[in-house]
Amino acid sequence: MELRDAYFIDGLRSWYGRAKPNGFYWTTRADDIVTKIMRELMRRNPNVPWDELDDNIWGATTQSGDQGTTMGRTTVFTAGLPVRVPGFSVDRMCAGGMTAQSIAGAWIKTNAADIVVAGGVEHMGHHPMGAEADPNPRIVTEKMVEPKYFNMGVTAERLHDWMVENGYPEVTREESDVYSYHVQKRYAKALAEGYYDDQTVNMAVFTPEGWKVADRDEQARPETTLEGLAKLKSPFKAAGKVTAGNSSGLNDGATVALMMSGEKAKELGLKPKMRLIGYAFEGVDPSIMGWGPIPATDKVLKRYGFKIDDIDFIELNEAFAVQAVAFMKYFGLKYPEDPRLNPYGGTIAIGHPLATSGVRLSVQLAKDFELHPEARYGLCTMCVGLGMGGATLWENMVGKDL
Ligand SMILES: CC(C)(COP(=O)(O)OP(=O)(O)OC[C@H]1O[C@@H](n2cnc3c(N)ncnc32)[C@H](O)[C@@H]1OP(=O)(O)O)[C@@H](O)C(=O)NCCC(=O)NCCS
Repeated sequence: MELRDAYFIDGLRSWYGRAKPNGFYWTTRADDIVTKIMRELMRRNPNVPWDELDDNIWGATTQSGDQGTTMGRTTVFTAGLPVRVPGFSVDRMCAGGMTAQSIAGAWIKTNAADIVVAGGVEHMGHHPMGAEADPNPRIVTEKMVEPKYFNMGVTAERLHDWMVENGYPEVTREESDVYSYHVQKRYAKALAEGYYDDQTVNMAVFTPEGWKVADRDEQARPETTLEGLAKLKSPFKAAGKVTAGNSSGLNDGATVALMMSGEKAKELGLKPKMRLIGYAFEGVDPSIMGWGPIPATDKVLKRYGFKIDDIDFIELNEAFAVQAVAFMKYFGLKYPEDPRLNPYGGTIAIGHPLATSGVRLSVQLAKDFELHPEARYGLCTMCVGLGMGGATLWENMVGKDL
């Protein structure tokens, strides 16, 4: 059987809220956010025969409560799709959505599906990280993972030290702060220039203060200064380097993508935005979780015959600035800003509702390609809890015929 091509047709997200009692989505259900963005995806793609959807795949780290009952299936009903559309949910923590999208790509490539919705959602206000988990005590007693490394911030602190101990260039606190400062500024500029307009959807939300419209990323801090960042203390380690200013936050939101085979897109007269070349996931020691994107990127490049210099845009999930700076140093990118890496801002400003972010990276990459038709290849990469990295590799389809 010959492999087919899988394409990204469209994608969008909710704005990301702060997972706090005064945050946009505090009293909104996770699956209602999913439903909102699915319906928007359907509305703005009227030429897609939605009753032919082959599957509806959703990533979420916590699979219970308003993220339970197999959301891929329940949101078929709430989004108004016919009952014949099947759906399921997956969990690879932060890379839940990236995994859903990879599965969609693989099924399309192997002729198991033509049209697939893949997304990620996380309501970290309703489901704080690890709160509902019951990890096997053997993992700790048999010393597979030190308990402190279940906390992602502690792994970011460890990454700072581990790089020095292992002969990699040091990432200083100042470098993490300067990097974060630039992310906030790039995001604010891109937001003002409308970069985010057609990849986000406003949502009416009922809050303890009455009805509001969730119409911005609540995490962003455009007023950030280097002096302000330098004053922050680490919540993860005495005299540590990882702070609220150089970390991703605790957020709520959802992101969705529509994936399709070339045959179906051609039949429908649709112009895909990107072709999925391939993807890779790779594990690292859980204590240095943030190192994950490096082996995942090395793996995806090698598997599909690419070098880092072939890549025009990299959308990297900045769970913590240290891992973004480590990535830049490892691959020889220009610090503190490289025009190829997160050119319109990143996670430190946007927020990181865990399982959503991998799909958000692809939505942004598609926009990068739209703004730069001359760019050919792009990479999305992210670290994942308990020591993993994920990477997806894409080709720009802007201006190309199928
Ligand atoms: C780091 C973390 C603990 C901070 O949480 P928090 O305390 O709720 O964060 P806040 O947004 O309230 O910020 C804390 C303080 O830093 C300040 N701050 C945050 N960003 C700032 C910035 N850019 N400039 C100046 N000050 C800033 C806030 O104003 C606040 O100050 P205050 O306490 O005086 O009000 C939390 O965001 C976190 O755990 N992040 C990592 C999430 C994670 O692990 N995800 C998975 C990745 S794999």
